[in-house]
Amino acid sequence: MSCSITLRDLSLARNGEVLFENVTLSVGHKDKIAVMGHNGAGKTTLLKSIVGLCRVRSGTVEIFHHKLVTEEDFRKARGHIGFVFQDSDDQIIAPTVIEEVAFGLLNSRMKPAEAEAQAEAMLNELGISHLRDRITLHLSGGEKKLVTLASVLVMKPDILLLDEPSAGLDEKSVNQLASILASIDKSMLIVSHDFEFVNKMGAQIMYLTREGLVRG
Ligand SMILES: Nc1ncnc2c1ncn2[C@@H]1O[C@H](COP(=O)(O)OP(=O)(O)OP(=O)(O)O)[C@@H](O)[C@H]1O
Ligand SMILES: [Mg+2]
Repeated sequence: MSCSITLRDLSLARNGEVLFENVTLSVGHKDKIAVMGHNGAGKTTLLKSIVGLCRVRSGTVEIFHHKLVTEEDFRKARGHIGFVFQDSDDQIIAPTVIEEVAFGLLNSRMKPAEAEAQAEAMLNELGISHLRDRITLHLSGGEKKLVTLASVLVMKPDILLLDEPSAGLDEKSVNQLASILASIDKSMLIVSHDFEFVNKMGAQIMYLTREGLVRG
């Protein structure tokens, strides 16, 4: 099977205590896998381990069958991965919404007019065109979440890591997001507490326990 993400026997300890161990998972090409589990189980830590933001104690991470070992390996892999953080404030950097969503495109040297057009199209797809010129600092929690989703999705990454993408969204936005994610043919690992949402987006459910990932 062609795999986008392969985790082999990952274990991670904090302050000398094991957070999780024996985490083994293959996210196949275009698979959608949801990771659920209690607060503090290590779900966010697990996502961060995949992109090298948290270092595991043992085990390996492979992206497209390349084992990531050095900081340079992780840096290159991050070029293929879109990551929506649990806390939007960790992610938003631009002063206005349109600048935020166009930021990555401009950074990848797209012409400004084209970047703006693609950012506008993304805002439209997520139903948040009305936020275009708003100051990002003044957005509500749910609005911020939708803006970070737009800024990640607009880059069309090969792999999506989404940490509680539906948290704080109203019912209409949750449904809209579930159908958008269901229609995106990409490999995704989604952390969520929202059973209905992950079902709606057609994800296979796994639970993170101290002893590893268990099928839902
Ligand atoms: N930078 C850090 N330094 C020390 N401990 C941390 C750090 N980040 C997280 N932790 C701890 O590690 C554990 C796992 O945290 P993590 O954020 O991965 O949990 P989670 O499963 O995502 O929880 P939630 O569902 O609440 O988001 C928690 O006990 C948390 O307090
Ligand atoms: Mg978390």
